[in-house]
Amino acid sequence: MARVLLENIKRIFNNVTAIEDISLEIPDSEFWVLVGPSGCGKSTILRTIAGLETATSGNLYIGDKLMNDVPARKRDVAMVFQNYALYPHMTVRENIAFGLQMRQVDRSIIQARVMTVAQSLGLGQLLDRKPKQLSGGQQQRVALGRAIARQPQVFLLDEPLSNLDAQLRDDTRAELKELHQNIGITTIYVTHDQTEAMTLADKIVVLDGGKIQQIGTPHHVYTQPANRMVASFLGNPPMNIFPGKYVGEGWDVVGNFLPLSQEIEQQLTLEIGQTVDLGIRPEHITITNADDSPALSAEVKVVEPLGRETLIRVGLLNSNVIVNAILQQGTANTNPALDQSICSGDRLSLKLDIEQLFVFNPNTGDRMFPN
Ligand SMILES: Nc1ncnc2c1ncn2[C@@H]1O[C@H](COP(=O)(O)OP(=O)(O)OP(=O)(O)O)[C@@H](O)[C@H]1O
Ligand SMILES: [Mg+2]
Repeated sequence: MARVLLENIKRIFNNVTAIEDISLEIPDSEFWVLVGPSGCGKSTILRTIAGLETATSGNLYIGDKLMNDVPARKRDVAMVFQNYALYPHMTVRENIAFGLQMRQVDRSIIQARVMTVAQSLGLGQLLDRKPKQLSGGQQQRVALGRAIARQPQVFLLDEPLSNLDAQLRDDTRAELKELHQNIGITTIYVTHDQTEAMTLADKIVVLDGGKIQQIGTPHHVYTQPANRMVASFLGNPPMNIFPGKYVGEGWDVVGNFLPLSQEIEQQLTLEIGQTVDLGIRPEHITITNADDSPALSAEVKVVEPLGRETLIRVGLLNSNVIVNAILQQGTANTNPALDQSICSGDRLSLKLDIEQLFVFNPNTGDRMFPN
């Protein structure tokens, strides 16, 4: 187990800057999750830590040791790839044991560890099969098992659950969390899955365009996103962002009036005509009767009942602004009867909880409020 320290790591491929000036310190035993849109540099960061990629500049430490010139096999890290590769001629048992055999670990220890790992990943019945006799999800779990069995100093996991079906994914995610709580190996985990990021991470690192946008606990990055990019990336669906123009005591939002909250009025200095980007989470929107004011007029595009809650996607009238709202069944709406009968094409009014409004600089995307 060891901390991992990246100092100003940069990787340029030909003319493409894959990652730019990445500095991170992941304390020993913590579980950090990297998220960001496709191509933002997540895999490049993991591959650089693993030694499969050489940084163009910057320093990498594992523990206290500078790793820049240490070859991959001597770094004592285990990586599970986006496109995991098993040894096709070996059985599941041999695949899981492989890293241990390479290290000449005692046979009885290997056997015991393979069994423990296989049981915890639901592979106990498959130990004598070859990879081609396994489903994609089973293969992925073998790849994970192979990494876990080695008990390295650092785990690098690149979307390790992406091939699993929903149920297995939930189960394996819980297994991983428990495993980490038990053995506490420093873990860096890449995912596109919001639930994985929020539930597994001690800290989330949000990346965009090869740069770090924000580092924080899941709760912190969700409730206090540093900028528009982070706000509109995290959450399922993410924060709604739409333009507002200050008209004195409130904003014009495509022809609707939205009043300022008292806090915004006290903290922000605004000029008449100034445009901003406003942000609000889907769970802070309710639907209301048309004659309630203030509210935003909208037309329903899609209704998605999800059981406990209903997701509605609406377009603000006279604009191309799309807004997502999550309606908790019967609780969060000012008119609970409404959420039972909403259909696409319906006109309705959205009531925004203005205490929950975010304000972003429309040019830089930086958060202006809360500040
Ligand atoms: N070997 C390479 N040669 C040239 N460009 C590369 C190479 N590897 C990665 N890149 C570029 O570097 C950038 C970052 O790639 P990377 O694979 O790290 O993204 P990612 O965040 O893992 O994306 P995804 O979510 O799609 O897996 C991309 O623009 C990619 O095209
Ligand atoms: Mg990747």
